[in-house]
Amino acid sequence: MTLPEGTPETNSATTAKPAEQVFEPVVAEPSPVSPTFDELTRQRTKEIIALYPEARSALLPLLHLVQSVEGYASQDGIRFCAEALDLSLAEVTAVVTFYTMYKRTPCGEHLVSVCTNTLCAALGGDDIYTRLQQRLGTNGRPLGHEETVGEPGSTGSITLEHAECLAACDLAPVLQVNYEYYDNQSPDSAVELVDALRRGERPNPTRGAPLTDLRTIELEIAGFGDIAVRAQGPSSAPESVRGAQLAADRGWVAPAMPDEPPAMPALPEKK
Ligand code: FES
Repeated sequence: MTLPEGTPETNSATTAKPAEQVFEPVVAEPSPVSPTFDELTRQRTKEIIALYPEARSALLPLLHLVQSVEGYASQDGIRFCAEALDLSLAEVTAVVTFYTMYKRTPCGEHLVSVCTNTLCAALGGDDIYTRLQQRLGTNGRPLGHEETVGEPGSTGSITLEHAECLAACDLAPVLQVNYEYYDNQSPDSAVELVDALRRGERPNPTRGAPLTDLRTIELEIAGFGDIAVRAQGPSSAPESVRGAQLAADRGWVAPAMPDEPPAMPALPEKK
C-alpha cells in the first residue's frame, strides 16, 4: 500500500487519510441485458415476483427461469435478476455460487447427476460415476465434474456431475437425469442410459414423469410446468413405502395424539 505524501513511515498515529484502495468488481460492469430475455421471459418474471410479499424472495425461482432460457446462470442472467429484484450483482452472484442447482457454464440437453454420497458410494455409486466419466470423455480424458460432452443444449449433449445424497437411499445406487430418478443402477445400466441419451433417446425414469430436457425442467421448477404431465407415473417406489404397507397389512395404527401435550421433564437448575 502506498502511503499518502508527507506521512512519516512509522506506525505512529496520523490524521492523514490512507490512499484509497480500488477493489476489482466481483462481476463485470453493467451493460445492456441480453435480448435473450424476451418479452415472454419478462412477463413470467413479473408473475413470479407477484407471488411474494418481498420481491427479493423471488430470486431462487427467477434464477431457474434464467436457466430455462440460457441453460445456465450467465452473467447476463445474474444482471437480469439483479435489475428485476433491485438487488446488487454481488448478492445475486452469492446465491448462484452457493447452490449447486445453479450452473455457471452452459449445460447439455441433459444433466446427469450421479449420487456418490455414503450409501450410494458403498453400493457402487463411485464405480458408476467413474464409468460414466470414462464413457463420456474424449481422447482418453475422462469427463470432469460439471463438464459437458457435445455442444451445450444440442440433442444428445450431456453435462455430468457427482451429487450429494439424492434422497433415495433405499434405492441406492441412484442417478438422476434432469432431476428424474433412475433407481438401483449399476455401471452397465448407467452406461446404457447415457448411450441412449447421446443417441437422442429419452428412456423412461424408474418412477415419476416422462423424461424431458433440462431447460424444460428448469422452467417447471420456476413454476411454469404442466402439472398434469408431471403427475404421471408412480412417485414412490415399493421399497420407500414398505414400512407403511406392512403396518397397513397388519392393522397397526399409531396411538392417537393426546389432547394435552405431555409435561416436559424438569430441567436441572442452572448454576
Ligand atoms: S446416498 Fe445416494 S440417495 Fe442417499
